Amino acid sequence: MSYTINVNGTSHTVDVDGDTPLLWVLRDTLDMKGSKFGCGMGLCGACTVHINGQATRSCITPVSAIGASKVTTIEGIGATPVGRKVQEAWLKVDVVQCGYCQAGQIMSATALLTTKAKPTDQDIDDAMSGNLCRCATYTRIRAAIKQAAGLPTHDSREV
Ligand code: FES
Ligand code: FES
Repeated sequence: MSYTINVNGTSHTVDVDGDTPLLWVLRDTLDMKGSKFGCGMGLCGACTVHINGQATRSCITPVSAIGASKVTTIEGIGATPVGRKVQEAWLKVDVVQCGYCQAGQIMSATALLTTKAKPTDQDIDDAMSGNLCRCATYTRIRAAIKQAAGLPTHDSREV
């Protein structure tokens, strides 16, 4: 069946089964490989995209559920003011290790800062708890989020 979805401001018509996860449509049909497959069960956050600005696990979101919603991926997030700030902070703090989880981390961080410009530590923990990092870059992720928010990063755990 054919579905028309809006990704990063562009409409794409794809011919796939309705229960195909959005992640596969992005990666295999649209050749956008930035969103990663980790667990396929909504547990790791590697596949996180935004749907109407909300951080969403694309591995468990069927393409038939998208409708007229706007999908934003890591390929498009730098075009938003908050996404650009987050990406700049990520580079400044040098967050990335292997990088596999980082697209999802940036998408979750951007969703957080879009709704809450000055998050508390608890807000950050709550928003980021579903994004796992096997390289344990958590302290730098927290520091980068604070940097993007213009908050002090003097916590000794944040390097
Ligand atoms: S791949 Fe989607 S949450 Fe792990
Ligand atoms: S940077 Fe390697 S899994 Fe997060």
